[in-house]
Formats: sequence, structure tokens, C-alpha cells
Amino acid sequence: MKRIIVTGGCGFIGSNFIRHLWTTDPGVTIVNIDKLTYAGNPENLADIEDDSRYEFQQGDICDREFLERVFAEQPVDAVVNFAAESHVDRSILDSGPFVRTNIVGTQQLLDVSRQLEVPKYVQVSTDEVYGSLGSDGYFTEETPLAPNSPYSASKTAADLLVRAYHHTFDFPAVITRCSNNYGPYQFPEKLIPLFLANAQKDESLPVYGTGNNVRDWIHVLDHCRGVEAALRQGCPGEVYNFGGRTEFTNLELTKLLLRLLGKPESLIRFVTDRPGHDLRYAIDCSKAENELGWKPQVPFEQGLRETIDWYQQNRQWVEHIQSGEYREYYQRQYGQRLSSTS
Ligand code: NAD
Ligand code: DAU
Repeated sequence: MKRIIVTGGCGFIGSNFIRHLWTTDPGVTIVNIDKLTYAGNPENLADIEDDSRYEFQQGDICDREFLERVFAEQPVDAVVNFAAESHVDRSILDSGPFVRTNIVGTQQLLDVSRQLEVPKYVQVSTDEVYGSLGSDGYFTEETPLAPNSPYSASKTAADLLVRAYHHTFDFPAVITRCSNNYGPYQFPEKLIPLFLANAQKDESLPVYGTGNNVRDWIHVLDHCRGVEAALRQGCPGEVYNFGGRTEFTNLELTKLLLRLLGKPESLIRFVTDRPGHDLRYAIDCSKAENELGWKPQVPFEQGLRETIDWYQQNRQWVEHIQSGEYREYYQRQYGQRLSSTS
């Protein structure tokens, strides 16, 4: 692997992935293409931004001319597409940016990659494309696609384009589908960093509905190692699921967070449920374990404690985010103002 294009590298998982690859593979040069939406934060990679093996190109994956220019600068050995609108609640407020970036952006990346005969393409997808489980069973790579939110529908459409490009053009693409990530640099609109930020200010934690919805949590570095394994060893045309084998109801997780923070459960506030809220996600990741030699390594409570420490030591990072556009989103989503952090 020499020159790898990573899209969405200023977001949560993309920045962790770039740092992971940059640290573990001295032979790699990484070009990060990111539009810098509200979720894109160059601060996430401030520690490597001046290094000669890292290059940042600000731009939109829907912009064909921009992509052609960046791709043509030097041969590209692989593309890993993380760029997306990623938050389910925002997709319920307005699905337009999701359709544009997640579907049209993927199509543009596929076309440019095919045109320049890029030898490997990884589409970073999600377990949400499989829809929702009842109280038992697991998503496998064979589970029928049945997305329920505008976000997951747009990710599914992208996956189907990738599948079709492989089938029609023999395009060398793999798809990865992962469960809920947690860890450093996650934007504080998602459950864990939002609840950490609120609890630190003794503000209420808005649990949707009854709190009985179940998610399967995986540390972001375990996901990054999975994407790397799919990049290096994944068989074109194949799909690989990644998960943490760590299921919690949202209420159980919220109580665990409060216990680790030493905060009272009275901070829990049950609020109106997310429309169409998927009940349960749980991943069977045995294919990745058997075929890629991958397995999740970070024990959940240890990873969560480290994540809490990271957010406590990086309050300024959260404070920078909790300004501007995010304040307006918070007011709209939760019907209350985000208090000042200082
Ligand atoms: P994120 O919202 O933190 O980051 C997304 C990044 O993409 C941001 O840096 C943003 O600026 C960039 N971006 C958005 N639109 C763009 C465009 N048009 N052109 C270029 N860049 C653009 O997202 P995340 O949580 O890091 O998720 C990354 C990927 O992983 C997404 O594809 C998501 O669907 C997938 N995924 C996420 C999770 C999870 O738990 N967060 C789990 C499974 C899969
Ligand atoms: O499963 C993978 C997916 O995980 C990714 O594809 C998405 O990009 C990522 O955002 C995440 O989706 P979720 O909707 O599961 O994550 P979120 O953190 O938004 O919510 C987790 C659970 O917590 C979900 O059941 C909704 C609930 N929730 C969330 C928020 C933000 C609350 O109860 N209150 C909240 O304020």
C-alpha cells in the first residue's frame, strides 16, 4: 500500500483510521479528502497535519472535477470511503444532504476510481442497512437489506451501487458494515459523547422512549483494524460485518455511564422517542473473524473508561464544537438550549 485516499478523514472514525494507518504503516501516504461539514474537524488530526506522509484536500466527494484533480496527482493504490452524513436524527429533520453525499458522492467516487483503475476500494457502511432485530438473532452478511431511516436508506443505496459496480464492471470493491462505535473524537451529537458532555455539566440525559432499544458497541480502533483488514485482505465483491459483541439497552448504558462518572441517575430524562426508532442491532462478525483473522480486542468497560478520560482531558475540543451550528441543532432536536460550557 502506498498512496491511499481516505474520505471523511476529519470525522470521528476517519480521523481515528488515518492516525491508526499512519502510525502502523510507515510505507503509506494518506490523502484525506474532507468537505469539513459541521462534523468535520481538522483539529482531530492536528498531531500529524505537518507530516509529509499526510496530505489534506478540502473538497466535496460530489464534486467530480475536484476528485479527478486529486486522484490524478499521483497513482492511487486504494480508496477508503468514510465520508457521509452520519446522524440518524439529522436525517429525520432533513434527508437532502444524506441523499446527496451518501449516494451521489459514493457514485462519483466509484466512477473516478473506476476511470483511474484504482486497484482496491472500501465502502465503509453500517449495520443499520439490515433494519431492526427483535429480542434475539444477529445480522449476518446474508441478512436482507431493510433500512428504516433516511440515513440508513441512503447508506443502503450506496452499498447497492458498490455491489452493482462490482457485478457489472468487476470493480474491486469491498463493503464493511459495523455496529455502533465509541471512542475519542466522536461528535457530541451521538449518544455516548452527548451524555458525557451533559453529565459533566449536571444537565439531563435525554433518553428516547423507554430506553429499551439495544445497540452493539465497538471501540473505534477495533472498527479501524477491521477496515484495515478489509483493505488489505478483503475479497472484492464481499461484505464483512464488524461488531463488538457488546449489547446494552440505552438505559443500561446510560446508568453505567452515570456510575462511572459518579453522577446520580436522577439526571436521566425520558423524552419523545425517535420516529421509526430501530429496536435492536446485533452483529454476527464470525465471517470477519474466520476470513480476515480480525476480532474485537478492546473490553467495553475499559474502552468506556478510557473514552471518559479522553473527554475529560479534552473539554476544549467539545467546547469548540458546542458553538455555532450545533447550538441551533440542539435547540431544534431537544427543545431546550445548550448551556454554556465554561
Ligand atoms: P462523522 O459524521 O463523524 O464524519 C463524517 C465526515 O465526512 C466529516 O468529517 C465530514 O466533514 C465528512 N463529509 C461529509 N460530507 C462530505 C462530502 N460531501 N464530501 C467530503 N466529506 C464529507 O461520521 P463517522 O461517525 O466518523 O462515520 C464515518 C463513516 O462510518 C460513515 O460512512 C458512517 O456511515 C460509517 N459508520 C459509522 C458508525 C458509527 O457508529 N459512527 C458505525 C458504522 C458505520
Ligand atoms: O449502528 C451503526 C450506526 O450507529 C451508525 O451507522 C451511525 O452513523 C451512528 O450514528 C450510530 O447510529 P445510532 O442512531 O444507533 O446512534 P446514536 O448515538 O444517535 O444513538 C444510539 C442510541 O441512543 C439509539 O437507540 C438512539 C438513542 N439516543 C440517541 C441520542 C442522540 C437517545 O436515547 N438519546 C439521544 O439523545
